[in-house]
Amino acid sequence: MSNLIARLCTAIENGQSMEPQDLASFIEGVANRTLSIEAITVWLKAVHAHGASVEDTVALTKGMMHSGAVLSWDSHRPVADKHSTGGVGDKMSIMLAPALAACGVEVPMLAGRGLGHTGGTIDKLESIPGFNCALNPKQMQSMVNEIGCCIAAQNEAIAPADGLLYAIRDVTSTVDSIPLITASIVSKKAAEGLKALVLDVKCGRAAFMQTEQQAIELATSMVRTANGLGIQTMAQITDMNEPIGSHVGNALEIIESVEVLNGRGSKDTVNLVAMQGGALLHLLGKAESSEDGEQMIVNTLHDGTAAKRFELMCIAQGVTPATAKKLLSTPENVVQRAEQVTELKAKSSGHIEGIDAMVLAEIAREHGAGRFDIEGIIDPSVGFVVLKAKGDEILQGQPWIAVHHNQPLTIDQEKGLHGALRLSTAPVKPIVRLLKVIQ
Ligand code: URA
Repeated sequence: MSNLIARLCTAIENGQSMEPQDLASFIEGVANRTLSIEAITVWLKAVHAHGASVEDTVALTKGMMHSGAVLSWDSHRPVADKHSTGGVGDKMSIMLAPALAACGVEVPMLAGRGLGHTGGTIDKLESIPGFNCALNPKQMQSMVNEIGCCIAAQNEAIAPADGLLYAIRDVTSTVDSIPLITASIVSKKAAEGLKALVLDVKCGRAAFMQTEQQAIELATSMVRTANGLGIQTMAQITDMNEPIGSHVGNALEIIESVEVLNGRGSKDTVNLVAMQGGALLHLLGKAESSEDGEQMIVNTLHDGTAAKRFELMCIAQGVTPATAKKLLSTPENVVQRAEQVTELKAKSSGHIEGIDAMVLAEIAREHGAGRFDIEGIIDPSVGFVVLKAKGDEILQGQPWIAVHHNQPLTIDQEKGLHGALRLSTAPVKPIVRLLKVIQ
């Protein structure tokens, strides 16, 4: 182990602050790829196991933010974004960025790939043929000036330190750490040069933060850090026990997103998009209340203006105009489809008490929806269409989920899926996603 990593880890293990110069050298070594993956993993494991102080978290975030370009804007339109800590079926960004753009907000969104069991916006968008998420700062700036939004992956130019840390965390079980998540998310968002930010902090069995207390701690850490960097920030803590919306899996989530952009689709998804967008429009002073903001977002989904921005964004990011047009009318004919679709049927009748999103995520990952190592290749076509939701009534023999797969479902996976559906004899209320707001 190098002296640098040894000094940093000793400080972390003893609960002391890391030397600012050492931390800066570490971030530089990550950003310019001179530190080995093994050395970075040792540091990540130390922070994951022992945590980091508020001061170190802020220093880490600032260092990661400045590890690449920081965008600046002279536009009269406000610049804003949202970020989620990661969920199952969490496709909100794909609809939210164009919907906000249609409301006159500029959204230079930097998004991530799948992390652990959770899906990533970039992997989802890359299931659209030709969609290019590798934008440099200049391209991001000109797209946002022209169209109002873009969705890009971190690259060598923007937050490069997070790019590598994120990829290593994904495969070293070091994701669920408050300082690491704070620095990862807030550094990327701060590099976008934002005025306002809404954070969706997921909470529940299929979230990195499983209890409300942990979610509050993470939300507080991120809101404090982002506000400290001059970004008006609020966090919405939302329930992540049930899969979000109707589709889970990279290409399948594109299909659902297009449905919603066309004014249809799952109510759960529409509500989440509207809630996040509404809060941002209110934070920016473009809506008198969050509720008014929600209505503005819903209007863009119904009047075609969000769909138009999405089409323009696809074309600007490499999709041919003909493919973009077809994507908006028949997305199922554009994205890759799985060879097999297996419907599972309820074994008894009842009211749906819950569908375990974590079980779905793990099985989808085993079938290629997520990675298990840094070189892992995603199969965009696999996933689920969830036909029923919490609170619905179901009769024995009725299908509740359609599994899209290219490899046979094992007996254990089928058993696991049946176990994911919990039924009650008494009526059950539909899910309420919003648990708490942290400002
Ligand atoms: N999303 C990110 O960008 N980083 C994390 O650490 C978790 C979710």
